[in-house]
Amino acid sequence: MTSDHSARVAVLVSGRGSNFEALHHALQSTPDIPAHIVGLISDQPQALALEKARHLGVPAEIIDATAHESKAAFEHALIGALSALAPDWIVLAGFMRVLTADAIEPFAGRMINIHPSLLPKHRGLHTHQKVLAAGERQHGASIHFVTAELDGGPVLSQVRMAVDQSDDATSLAQRLLPLEHHLMRATVALLATDDVKCANGKITINGHELLQPLQLGHGLDDRGQWLDQPSGR
Ligand code: GAR
Repeated sequence: MTSDHSARVAVLVSGRGSNFEALHHALQSTPDIPAHIVGLISDQPQALALEKARHLGVPAEIIDATAHESKAAFEHALIGALSALAPDWIVLAGFMRVLTADAIEPFAGRMINIHPSLLPKHRGLHTHQKVLAAGERQHGASIHFVTAELDGGPVLSQVRMAVDQSDDATSLAQRLLPLEHHLMRATVALLATDDVKCANGKITINGHELLQPLQLGHGLDDRGQWLDQPSGR
């Protein structure tokens, strides 16, 4: 993005919308980040995120998969709604539907997804249970570019936290969520201010190939707690 352009961000959701809300708050309260949310689309008519968007004055739309005769028809409607928003970036923030290559292709390299694991570990659902079952000492969240492979696209950024002896799946999810919000804000800020590209399975930032996911937990300790008071982050 160039500095005189405010990146247009569209958000896809299916549920609660806390990542959307955190991103909206960050972009409203941090004018230094040249990005704004142009619309939210939910595939679930009952998604709490829709209420949040209306409350925040963000244009919100429902594209209900069950109201379409086929997956192709649903994706056609979704592509139309997304294209109408003319987004620079599309952020999947708790969007729980797997898109086909046909739906991703028009937005290839511009679509990112937040996932609650340290990818490539633990794709799909129940990531917190999988971390505990594997006896892992570290957990985290990742933001990756969306490809037709479920949670399999190139990973741009991550945030990490230590797993405690006392953790269960609920406590892991609760402790990880604010870190996801941090990761979301920091990653969208990066997309808005730097030249980030993804093509042929590779990510470049300002022309340099990214060899490892960015670790965006700066200012957090290994339990995911702020090392100092979080002001405006
Ligand atoms: C988040 O934990 C996000 O990482 C996860 O859904 C939750 C949505 O929360 N996404 C996935 O599992 C995608 N595979 P939110 O609606 O409150 O932002």
